Amino acid sequence: MNFELKSLNVSSVAGEKSDALVVLVNTAFKPGAGRGPLAELINQALKAGDLDTKAGKLLQVYRPAGISSPRVVLAGIGEGTARQIRQAVMAATAAVKTVSTKRLVVCFVSSATEEAVRAAVLSLADASYVYTTTKSRPEGRALQKVVVGVPDAGPMKTCFSQAVACVQGIELAKEWANRPANHATPTMLAQAAKELARLPGIACEVLLPKQVEKLGMGSFMAVAKGSEEPLRFIVLRYNGGTKSEAPTVLVGKGITFDTGGISIKPAPEMDEMKFDMCGAASVLGVFRALADIKPKINVVGLIPSCENMPDGRAVKPGDVVTSMSGQTIEILNTDAEGRLILCDALTYAERFKPHAVIDIATLTGACVIALGAVRSGMFASTDTLAQALQAAGEKSQDLCWRLPLDDDYAEGLKTNFADVANVAGRAGGAITAAKFLQRFADKYPWAHLDIAGTAWKSGASKGATGRPVALLLEYLVAQSGQTAPLKPAKKAARA
Ligand code: BES
Ligand code: MN
Ligand code: ZN
Repeated sequence: MNFELKSLNVSSVAGEKSDALVVLVNTAFKPGAGRGPLAELINQALKAGDLDTKAGKLLQVYRPAGISSPRVVLAGIGEGTARQIRQAVMAATAAVKTVSTKRLVVCFVSSATEEAVRAAVLSLADASYVYTTTKSRPEGRALQKVVVGVPDAGPMKTCFSQAVACVQGIELAKEWANRPANHATPTMLAQAAKELARLPGIACEVLLPKQVEKLGMGSFMAVAKGSEEPLRFIVLRYNGGTKSEAPTVLVGKGITFDTGGISIKPAPEMDEMKFDMCGAASVLGVFRALADIKPKINVVGLIPSCENMPDGRAVKPGDVVTSMSGQTIEILNTDAEGRLILCDALTYAERFKPHAVIDIATLTGACVIALGAVRSGMFASTDTLAQALQAAGEKSQDLCWRLPLDDDYAEGLKTNFADVANVAGRAGGAITAAKFLQRFADKYPWAHLDIAGTAWKSGASKGATGRPVALLLEYLVAQSGQTAPLKPAKKAARA
């Protein structure tokens, strides 16, 4: 989809040619007299009480006089917060979503904040996204072009192009996450990463089973053993900073299908375990966007990828393996495989002398119970990192919530047969998983995002969300100090 930013206001937007026009009206908006047919229309609708400016409320008009677009939707945005913009855009896009809407204009009639413009771009993309890859007669996305209008486009340029880059990243993440496991094997994921390396500033190296064995990643290899599909260890690099600058390392869980292994999962909803590589997909998405945004930082992406299958050669409950760190692990439950592939990647990350390491994983059902689909679970070994991630989440509306890492939570991981067990009891399952990972992440500031509840939706709207690409990008761009300077909206222009 093609996005364009344009300077438009309540007068000039009336002449803008499109299949549909969405006008975002905030509660404080006063159209003013003599400002043309659209201002007149809003005036009358407000006066009559037919236009409610609460976020998500719509008034639809067909062929109003003096307006170029045949379909006009007046959409309330309340005070115009990012969340309200999202509500309004989702509702309005659903209302005009027909095959004949190819060109859409979405216009803020009052001055908009950067967060509002970004929210509009991201939710427009989200509302019109369609997965087509494995359909024989793909009905693609009808919407081809979206013009976003703001009264003064100039100062919004940086934030707008970053939002469009973020959409590219989110859509790449959705694409790979949505593909069924037979269309997204570890080998195919590695190929996708290699294709990213064609973009400026990005390099990719893929380690094969022999190299992984040589590194001593016994924990990762134990998970991969049960599958005919060979494992891959993907190393992506984005170099936008100076050589001496310590990189941020992102580690994405890349289980392309999780049956549970010998500790096999029940049949209902097992298909959703094709999404168990959403962490990996989010790392691919971030790199896609970095190539566009070009921040002055260094980033490394690590993706351990394999299937978790039951087989004659599969790892068995009670088996003890040696991780790359040298720590031995008793695998009491083969379904707790995410932490087993991540721990070796966390050890591998040490060689980059990172500024921080963030792992992203659909790690525990317990996190879904704790936080649902609204916020991702966030764990961090330093308060600085926790605060930066929390803030990035709020700013991008890709929310997370910090959970604790008290050492007492690690008690249940003790075993008589190895240095550590891969599971504790059922209580606090998201936290005990994080405590397991923390043992392998003591050489650098570390954070862990458990995205089990936020990475995809179930039910009728089953599909990947692309989270937490927006959060991670916001965090990285803030690190580079390259966020577009925040321009406070002028008081007079706010009305
Ligand atoms: N990939 C799953 C986590 C998961 C489950 C995410 C359901 C989203 C929905 C992970 O590999 C897993 O199976 N975790 C187990 C851990 C348990 C055996 C300690 C879980 O959460 O049940
Ligand atoms: Mn599992
Ligand atoms: Zn899993």
